[in-house]
This record gives sequence, C-alpha cells and structure tokens, in this order.
Amino acid sequence: MGAGFFVIGTDTGIGKTTVSCALLHAFAAQGNKVAGMKPIAAGSENGKWPDVELLFATSNISITRQQINPYAFDSPISPHIAAQQTGTEIDLMIIHQAYQELSSKADIVIVEGAGGFLVPINQQQTGADLAIKLNLPMILVVGMRLGCLNHALLTAQAIRAAGLTLAGWVANCIDPQMRVLEQNIATLEQRLGCPLLSVLSFDLKMESQKIAKSLVISKLEKFWV
Ligand SMILES: Nc1ncnc2c1ncn2[C@@H]1O[C@H](COP(=O)(O)OP(=O)(O)O)[C@@H](O)[C@H]1O
Ligand SMILES: [Mg+2]
Repeated sequence: MGAGFFVIGTDTGIGKTTVSCALLHAFAAQGNKVAGMKPIAAGSENGKWPDVELLFATSNISITRQQINPYAFDSPISPHIAAQQTGTEIDLMIIHQAYQELSSKADIVIVEGAGGFLVPINQQQTGADLAIKLNLPMILVVGMRLGCLNHALLTAQAIRAAGLTLAGWVANCIDPQMRVLEQNIATLEQRLGCPLLSVLSFDLKMESQKIAKSLVISKLEKFWV
C-alpha cells in the first residue's frame, strides 16, 4: 500500500483542490505513482465535478472516476443535505474501499476533503469521521483572509482532538488586500505546531505545476519515505 495525505481547508473555496493538485505534481516529479481522491463532491458544472476532473487529470496511473469520487452530488450544498435530497447515505466503508484500491496502485494518494473539517456528511457523521476512517496525516490549507487565524487554530485543534496528525500547512494568499499578511503567517507558524510547506501568493492564473515547485515536500518525508 502506498502512503497518503488528507488535504483539509479552513473553509470551502480557499485552495484545497489547487494545493492537492500541486502536491500530486510535486510527488510525481520525484518519480512517484500518484492518485488524487475526492471522496465527496457537491456541485456539478455541465454534468462534471471540477475537483474530480482536476484530480483525475493530475493523477498519473490508470484509475477510474468512480474510485476517485465515490459520492457526487449536483447541488453545491452540504453533503449531508445533498445526500438526503437524492436518497443516498454516505457510507465510510465505501470510501475506505475506494481509497484502498487507489492506494494499492499508487505510491502516494492525495485525498481532498469536502468543505471544512467538521462538515456533516450524513445524519450522524462529519468530515472528521471520514478523516479518522482513512487515518492519514493531514495537510491544512489556510485561506489567508481576515478571520483565518481563528479558523486555522480551530481546525488544528479539532484535527488533534480527533487523534489525527497535522503533518503540515500551506498559507494560500487568496485576498490580495489582506492587511498585515506577514504577521498573520508568522502567527500561524508559531501556533500551528507543524511545518509550513509553502506560501502561495495571490495569482489569478494559479498553475498547480508551478505551485508544486514551491512546496517543500521533504518536510513531509517522515510520513511517506
Ligand atoms: N492564491 C490564489 N490566488 C488567486 N486565486 C486562487 C488562489 N488559490 C485558489 N484560487 C482560486 O480560488 C478558487 C477556489 O480554489 P480551489 O482550489 O478550487 O478551492 P477549494 O478546493 O478549497 O474549494 C479557484 O478558482 C482557484 O483558482
Ligand atoms: Mg476543491
């Protein structure tokens, strides 16, 4: 079985897919067989799920969209409501099985979470239960904007309270107007207690291949070598 990382964000729309694809590129550039996974996707565009398409295109082994993405819903709403509306029950065993299939073929699997860490996925469980089930080291993407310190620290606390390991974090500068950006990054460096893998500047032409070069994946070595 290969190694894996679970990419979680401080929120939705803050760069999880961008960073997940960049991680896939970075590990592939070192000669690894890589696969992306988006266990739960909510929000289709023209019959496709953009995250799934991006992770599929960035994977470099032969896998199916069904393995990458066991659960896909058309509405861009919370997974537990989307599932309820379509009469589906999200089952972690199904996701775990799909992960194992990917992991049996790939050296590294990058799993992108849905929404934030505690997003409900069915009547009882949240994204935390999904992360616990897969039991992977977590990478936290912080969307750098006002309010992110609280979101980042809450997420880190919840990850550790769940018994999971925070392997690293990425500062993604999604707000070009953010004040005291450097001080905010320094605050998180001091308080998150895990390595900063990269600071991604605001860039409307985000190219994950380019970003990959800035990711210091050697800081993750103890989790996959
Ligand atoms: N650093 C950045 N600068 C400018 N745009 C960004 C940056 N990071 C992400 N984006 C854009 O923000 C949107 C959301 O990013 P995405 O990676 O899909 O987030 P998530 O997976 O968390 O929903 C995308 O259109 C992406 O291109
Ligand atoms: Mg995404």
